Amino acid sequence: MKIKFEKICYHYLQNLPYQKEILKDISLEISRGEFVALIGPTGSGKTTLLQHFTGLLKPTSGKIYIDDRDIWQKAYPLAALRKKIGLVFQFPESQLFEGSVFDDVAFGPRALKLKHGEVEQRVEQALRLVGLNVDIIAARSPHDLSEGEKRRVAIAGVLAMAPDMLILDEPTAGLDPTGKKLVINMLEKLNREGVTILFVSHNMDLVLQLAQRVLVLSEGTIIFDGTRDSILSNQDLLTEVHLEFPRISSVARSLYRQKIIADWKIYTISQLKSAIRSGRV
Ligand SMILES: Nc1ncnc2c1ncn2[C@@H]1O[C@H](COP(=O)(O)OP(=O)(O)O)[C@@H](O)[C@H]1O
Ligand SMILES: [Mg+2]
Repeated sequence: MKIKFEKICYHYLQNLPYQKEILKDISLEISRGEFVALIGPTGSGKTTLLQHFTGLLKPTSGKIYIDDRDIWQKAYPLAALRKKIGLVFQFPESQLFEGSVFDDVAFGPRALKLKHGEVEQRVEQALRLVGLNVDIIAARSPHDLSEGEKRRVAIAGVLAMAPDMLILDEPTAGLDPTGKKLVINMLEKLNREGVTILFVSHNMDLVLQLAQRVLVLSEGTIIFDGTRDSILSNQDLLTEVHLEFPRISSVARSLYRQKIIADWKIYTISQLKSAIRSGRV
């Protein structure tokens, strides 16, 4: 799946005297298998931008192509697109509504009119992907689960549609460290299996640990689009948009300056540990 945004502009309150431009001239491309983070201050337009990927919002101007087809052309099957791109809203657990975990995760596959056996298989597989055991959890009420479990069940509901791409709005917000870790592991695993991932996060440690590419949105404009290495060389840019420099990278940078480690481009604790162990070159 290939995604191309061409000069996307968007404002709410169309045709009213007061118009606020939320997205300004956004152009970007995302290829199959990429792992991309979207960062930016609150109110910069991240959630609004995500809603354009599945046609939940229609750009005021500009074009969106998915696999080279303009998604706003009349004949374009938007319903089919929403099966290929799974969108996980912020706090998706608020949308759990069925009486059992099984029924909740099965909601999408049932709507696809899959056969019973296939629905079961999809549910089991999706729960496994989020680290939950179908035998233990399927019959439970979603409302009795921990916050982290609820989040994972809600994500499983999206995964049960077997999307090619997963888009998540602040997937670890409000979770405890264990819940965060499980979501992180799940995203890594999905991406290894070929799922394209785009996620929004305020947690720079998480962004750098996961994403190979980072997009920075500021006041509706993409002011940076590059690799995680290049964002580390742009500390001023992070300061400008009020984002923290990742903690691990700042420790790594100071160890590098003291010639204790040989490379400062470090994104995870385990990388830092092995850099310290191998010492300077
Ligand atoms: N439904 C809406 N109607 C009008 N303005 C909105 C609506 N949703 C968001 N906005 C405004 O759009 C801007 C961007 O919001 P949003 O996309 O939610 O930003 P972010 O996710 O980066 O915090 C904000 O100024 C917000 O107030
Ligand atoms: Mg948001």
